[in-house]
Amino acid sequence: MREQSFVMLKPDAVKRRLAGEVLSRFEKRGLKIVAAKMMVISPELAKKHYAEHAEKPFFKDLVSYITSGPVLAMVIEGGDCISLIRKMVGATNPSEADMGTIRGDYAIETGRNMIHASDSTESAAREISLFFKDSEICQYTLPDEEIIYEEP
Ligand code: RTP
Ligand code: MG
Repeated sequence: MREQSFVMLKPDAVKRRLAGEVLSRFEKRGLKIVAAKMMVISPELAKKHYAEHAEKPFFKDLVSYITSGPVLAMVIEGGDCISLIRKMVGATNPSEADMGTIRGDYAIETGRNMIHASDSTESAAREISLFFKDSEICQYTLPDEEIIYEEP
């Protein structure tokens, strides 16, 4: 099923100049980038985005990390892409993430794990609407969709 996921390169990824590398992985997989913007997240938005972790001991550090510099916020579209992107991202703790995943290839610590990706259809819808207006999401067809998908 065609889905949209909210994906965000965190400040460590942007500052380490790894945005292009990571973006390239999604493009090469055949996924479609339908929205992207660089922004510094406000503490208010960070708290809303990570509301499920509000009571966790790491919440304060998480908010200060995610607001510490620019992020690249994106909406990515593709077949079953919510779970597919989570697999590409790898385990929350990069030291436990499989090689070949983004976190497994580029990161070391949980508190600097480079990338966020939605974990369900409900969180994808919630997160996309937190970060993007409908008018900021582009609808377009890629010329190779009929090669990538059996039923484009
Ligand atoms: P994300 O939401 O950022 O995509 O990461 P995730 O689903 O893999 O992990 P999640 O459990 O949702 O945690 C959100 C972010 O909080 C930080 N964290 N720190 N110190 C800790 O034990 C701890 N646990 C989580 C990480 O930055 C994680 O990505
Ligand atoms: Mg999460």
